Amino acid sequence: MTYEDFPTDEQTVVTAGLPYANGDLHIGHLRSYVNADAFTRGLRKLGQDAIYVSGSDMHGTPIAVNAAEEGVSPEEFALRHHEQYEQTFPKFNVDFDQYGHTHDETNTELTKEFVRKWEENGHVHEKEINVAYDPEADQWLPDRYVEGTCPYCGEHARGDECDEGCQRHLEPGEIEDPVSTLTGNPAEYRVRDHKFLRLSDVQEHLQGFINRLEGTSNAQNQPREWIEGELEDFCITRDMDWGIDYPGEGSEDLVLYVWVDAPIEYVSTTKQYSERTGDFDWEPVWKDGDGHIVHIIGRDIIQHHTVYWPAMLEAADYAEPRAVCATGFVNIDGKGLSTSKNRAIWAEEYLDEGVHPDLLRYYMATASGFERDVNFSWDRFAERVNSELADVVGNFVYRALLFATRNFDGTPDADVSADVETEIADAMDDYEDALNDYDLKSAGERAVALARYGNEYIQRNEPWKLDDEEAAPVIRDCVQLVKAVAVLLQPFVPEKADEIWAQIEEDNSVADATIGDCLQAPPAAFGEPEELFTKVEDERVEELDEKLQEKIEAASSDEEESEDVSEASETELEPLADERVSFEDFQALDLRVGEIEAAEGIEGADDLARLEVDIGHEVRQIVAGIKQLHDLDELPGKRVVIVANLEKAELFGVESNGMILAAGEDADLLTTHEDSEPGTKIK
Ligand code: MSP
Ligand code: ZN
Repeated sequence: MTYEDFPTDEQTVVTAGLPYANGDLHIGHLRSYVNADAFTRGLRKLGQDAIYVSGSDMHGTPIAVNAAEEGVSPEEFALRHHEQYEQTFPKFNVDFDQYGHTHDETNTELTKEFVRKWEENGHVHEKEINVAYDPEADQWLPDRYVEGTCPYCGEHARGDECDEGCQRHLEPGEIEDPVSTLTGNPAEYRVRDHKFLRLSDVQEHLQGFINRLEGTSNAQNQPREWIEGELEDFCITRDMDWGIDYPGEGSEDLVLYVWVDAPIEYVSTTKQYSERTGDFDWEPVWKDGDGHIVHIIGRDIIQHHTVYWPAMLEAADYAEPRAVCATGFVNIDGKGLSTSKNRAIWAEEYLDEGVHPDLLRYYMATASGFERDVNFSWDRFAERVNSELADVVGNFVYRALLFATRNFDGTPDADVSADVETEIADAMDDYEDALNDYDLKSAGERAVALARYGNEYIQRNEPWKLDDEEAAPVIRDCVQLVKAVAVLLQPFVPEKADEIWAQIEEDNSVADATIGDCLQAPPAAFGEPEELFTKVEDERVEELDEKLQEKIEAASSDEEESEDVSEASETELEPLADERVSFEDFQALDLRVGEIEAAEGIEGADDLARLEVDIGHEVRQIVAGIKQLHDLDELPGKRVVIVANLEKAELFGVESNGMILAAGEDADLLTTHEDSEPGTKIK
């Protein structure tokens, strides 16, 4: 590995992908902000000097479009959302050291500086390109003003992004069959001069960078095909009024593309933090590489953070990020969150339900591996927070502290046993390793495992059967475990950790404690504890779920209506095949009933899942393109139909020995009507 493990002596900046200032925050967004917040707090627990920055993304076409619809200026519109975000984040204990926005002076100036530097370094050139134009509206159609077909995967896409398909960034002029979102008319392509950053200039740098990059494997692997192939130039200007003006002469009517000034906000907020507090050196970190930069984002913006952004940094002689961590998506009911269709759980709505924000934090950080999608349901949420936070952590802390105060008025005067000391030290090591692997789930679960150990320890030692002298060392151990759990769990549930800290009457803040404090003696005296967590009871889950279902139904009936309108063009049935096959040919296919035993995503592949399917005679490994279309956790136990004698194939280095049959674009899995056993032949 190129980098020294955390904690290092150098300063670290952790960033979270900037939210577009154009709507309410939902639990999908919160996954990025909570994980980045927990990660920063985790680094501090290791003794790392780290700050957490982000800001609102104010520019871009969606904001211009939505503001126009409301009849207000884009600036007023975006600022209103920006202010709302500033209010919402702290309610989830998402605690930015600096939170700015891309339209402020620092970012405007710094962005212009970047562009000037690129020009000075000879990386910018002008080129004539096709830009979509709406003759009726008499307007250029950058980015979201145009929709059409992705030239790479054929899915419906937006002007600058294949949001429903391959997730690629699309350059102006690339989208096929462009339609204006202003009038619904087909758009024309007209020739126009634009500015480009020549990515091929930094291609070699990017190839080295991707090998040095730490973080999650999706971020390390996905960009390879782009970085290794021919790198197209990156168009950095747009025909719009809303944005940061292009700094050069002769380009007064152009603004910078939103993805130019947005990531620069990471630098601007660090700079603002340095200037405001005087205790952080932004330049060594960002310009000289004397420090560490960790970007936490959702998986939809990997390309921006592993190709364009490092290219922008290199072209301006800036340092490179140490790590990019890309979380999986939060889906609902197996489908993507949709703000326009209200298929979402809004941040404020969650709070209004009175469920503690720390529960969502813990869930968001540990519900699944960092890279995997989470299919949110209240049921799964409640099951997890009840069984881990309430039953394990809450129960242990309460039992231990109640015993301690009732019998000893606090921490008994005894030594911590060697066993418990070793257990805590092991937890500290595992925790440090997990954070160095950017594995928040393991770090959080390790803290809970320590509480589970505590519960078992009480159970095993039965202090209630012992006299005070015999019970003292047992309870001493338990109070130490409580303290250690509070320290390790603090990044995930900061308020709840504060409560534990207050219950054992520690003086300093648990936010300032480091893992070394796990083994420091707790105060000798403290009062009676209170229950830490309220369980989310079954009736509550039912109620919350009903509300969500109602929303989803309303959303899907809207969807059906709107689909009806466009059905003719979008969901036309494929024509029947003319050519007939012989009965023998059909019989040559060995179709079998199978039962899925295991399903997991394949690292680095967006769509592929590895399945283990029992087909009676044996269990087969089959690769299927269903990762995004099904909740993989729910597949085990499902009966499917497979082609058992298809030639073997290898996909992303994984052998596929058969094929599962599925209908249509949504990969609706085929099965039988009754209970045919795995292995049954289909004829
Ligand atoms: N403004 C850009 C990011 C610019 S970073 C220089 C953007 N904004 S966003 O509002 O769409 O998303 C903000 C963050 O939330 C991103 O990290 C994004 O990946 C994440 N998510 C948005 N919706 C999400 C889900 N449904 N699930 C998980 N993360 C999601 O992208
Ligand atoms: Zn695509």
